[in-house]
Amino acid sequence: QSNQFCEVGTGYGEAGCGIPASSSSKLLIKGGTVVNAHHQEVADVYVKDGIIVAVNPNLKVGDDVKVLDATGKFVMPGGIDPHTHLAIPFMGTEAIDDFFSGQAAALAGGTTMHIDFVLPINGSLTAGFEAYEKKAKNSCMDYGFHMAITKWDEVVSKEMEIMVKERGINSFKFFMAYKGFVMINDELMLEGFKMCKSLGALAMVHAENGDAVFEGQKRMIELGITGPEGHALSRPPVLEGEATARAIHLARFVNTPLYVVHVMSIDAMEEIARARKSGQRVIGEPVVSGLVLDDSKLWDPDFTTASKYVMSPPIRASGHDKALQAALSTGVLQLVGTDHCTFNSTQKALGIDDFRKIPNGVNGIEERMHLVWDTMVESGQISVTDFVRVTSTECAKIFNIYPRKGAILAGSDADIIIFNPNSSFEISARSHHSRTDTNVYEGKKGKGKVEVTIAGGRVVWENDELKVVPGSGKYIEMAPFSYLFNGINKAEELYLASFHAPVNRFKSTT
Ligand code: URP
Ligand code: ZN
Ligand code: ZN
Ligand code: ZN
Repeated sequence: QSNQFCEVGTGYGEAGCGIPASSSSKLLIKGGTVVNAHHQEVADVYVKDGIIVAVNPNLKVGDDVKVLDATGKFVMPGGIDPHTHLAIPFMGTEAIDDFFSGQAAALAGGTTMHIDFVLPINGSLTAGFEAYEKKAKNSCMDYGFHMAITKWDEVVSKEMEIMVKERGINSFKFFMAYKGFVMINDELMLEGFKMCKSLGALAMVHAENGDAVFEGQKRMIELGITGPEGHALSRPPVLEGEATARAIHLARFVNTPLYVVHVMSIDAMEEIARARKSGQRVIGEPVVSGLVLDDSKLWDPDFTTASKYVMSPPIRASGHDKALQAALSTGVLQLVGTDHCTFNSTQKALGIDDFRKIPNGVNGIEERMHLVWDTMVESGQISVTDFVRVTSTECAKIFNIYPRKGAILAGSDADIIIFNPNSSFEISARSHHSRTDTNVYEGKKGKGKVEVTIAGGRVVWENDELKVVPGSGKYIEMAPFSYLFNGINKAEELYLASFHAPVNRFKSTT
């Protein structure tokens, strides 16, 4: 079976593939072109005990060191996926990729870290965090957490502080859609943004007008449109543009940085472009599905085929994809995620009579690096250094874990890929490593291939074979006050000072 993999250290793995559980802790990657976001050069990379020790041409090492020849290939930081939902309880079911299978798929595709969204339980951040800690126990690569905020009171506000100061969380997501489930209103968003600002945590939004989506869904059902195409028709780009603009304006009002997740439309992208042009600190994250797919398959006569493309915001009509690519190449959008959230065809069939019940989500954690390379680098839209920036470095900087992650520098974690630009890839559910039985990129082929993945100094993907170790992944705590907060109050202070006006100008002196 091509989509099986060995679990090293479980006994079965050792028998199955003959890999010792304690693989060499010293590695030399020889002769490759080492690419960082800021620079590329031919150099060797020496790794010891999970850390990069040296990056220099012609390094000499002892014969106890495993040597990987990277001549003619790129040696790059492992990908960091800023947006995943592994084992998320969602729409009456649970995403089928858990932390082990989702991460194994990620490693096979050259991604060595991801940041997953913790959902509170009945509004409790602590309960949600503890549940996700358990889910993540079998991790085989490093991971961090964002936290969603789904209700507001004194307890939640206090818990946000605890999450930031004691649990290593530095970002909170607000859902402006999914009415009756996790959707929040403007009042909560304002309170949440204020709290984010005071904690130095990044506010993130799922930007769609949930009330209008609810109305749009009713319209479709009244028209008798119950199939997957109804999903896209019920929540058009204008609703994404409206919510994106609203979140941006409220973040401006609070003067806190904002991160817009899964930017799927020209409408939303243009709001981000406008805000950035005015100097506002807004980050826009396109996801792979939005960059490379269009909505045509939602009309496929086969329900299994059509329903696998259902995600929110929806995959848009042809044209939005190219515009998002251009925005990524010009810096209007800064980094690429996946929103990996997989449901198999049995789970998707929960909505066979009503598109509102199709669990929302698509795959991508394994495909992201290859598709961004093929779509953006092979087409000449971005450079190889930009590829590293949008797939790894920018994410590490935004979430304040750079240069431990996102760089090939002495002292950084040894999360590294060897990428062969002259090889090729082909995507299929038959050979992918996700547990789901479909793939939204089925049949896609392109140039370039991740030949080796090194995670935490361990070779985990080589010769098309995974050697993953459950429990070897570490939780990465992320500190608040990333670069996005640096000096953010200065413009406002200067503006207020410019009035030369004392407070309480007309206060009585009696
Ligand atoms: O359809 C999606 N995007 N599912 C995951 C949850 C979310 O909105 O990010
Ligand atoms: Zn979302
Ligand atoms: Zn505006
Ligand atoms: Zn998501």
